[in-house]
Amino acid sequence: MTEVEGAATFRAATDMYGRFIGRYAPGLSAALIDAVGVEPDSRVLDVGCGPGGLATALAEILGQENVAAVDPSPPFVSVCRARLPTADVRVAAAEELPFPDGFFDGGFAQLVVNFMTDAERGVGEMKRVVKPGGTVAACTWDYRDGMTMIRAYWDAAHEVVPDESAQFDEGKTMRYAMLEELTGLWRTVGLQDVAGGELSVTVGYDDFEDLWAPFPTGIGPAGAFCASLDPEQQQILRAALSRRLGDPEGPFELSARAWYAVGRA
Ligand SMILES: C[S@@+](CC[C@H](N)C(=O)[O-])C[C@H]1O[C@@H](n2cnc3c(N)ncnc32)[C@H](O)[C@@H]1O
Repeated sequence: MTEVEGAATFRAATDMYGRFIGRYAPGLSAALIDAVGVEPDSRVLDVGCGPGGLATALAEILGQENVAAVDPSPPFVSVCRARLPTADVRVAAAEELPFPDGFFDGGFAQLVVNFMTDAERGVGEMKRVVKPGGTVAACTWDYRDGMTMIRAYWDAAHEVVPDESAQFDEGKTMRYAMLEELTGLWRTVGLQDVAGGELSVTVGYDDFEDLWAPFPTGIGPAGAFCASLDPEQQQILRAALSRRLGDPEGPFELSARAWYAVGRA
């Protein structure tokens, strides 16, 4: 299997992923499924399943036996398999999907297209394994603006360590984080009846430490950047992020916006 650069920051700390992005997965999965629809009795694939947030939501509708899921990160595949023991969960990257042509009725990728090494090839593979007329859909964060946690984090990093952080801001580095770019990719790979729009999700945190704890563990690109700072810089960044979120004391909520694209194979 091809080694995938984008997967590298998701190899460790699967429990921290749950506290970092995984907490958004149930609400985001529900919003994506609601927006693009899932046909009853269909067989579907979750590409870049991570620990299985979207695959679990699909299995609740279709049954585990009608859900397959792949991810290049073996620890995530283990967690997803444990959650969905009778689903077909495999270690694989989008760019080389281990399924025959037209095998699925639908293919989904939640927060993954921007991590693919070759997104045209990855989404092209999703199109290949979905039967003609079937659904190919994905969503990505609005890293530039609407994903409050990540936007506030990079804005805080620019304030605290401007030289070091400039090149890592996901608002700049992430592709397909704007609706037109994502739907453009869907058209480029030859998907039909392409549509797209906005998904909104709100999540709760117990307190600011609940939000902060994953960052120093190095999870995701934002965490990898945090882990590269010395402990004192990390504490200054922590304080700056807290300030940007209104110095919450006790439980609070944050909203996040993602963009979705859907088309027919
Ligand atoms: C932000 S996580 C999203 C996980 C899950 N879909 C969710 O909604 O929680 C990004 C995932 O993309 C996976 N990934 C990275 N590169 C990939 C590729 N080329 N093909 C498929 N998945 C990839 C990572 O291993 C990671 O699990």
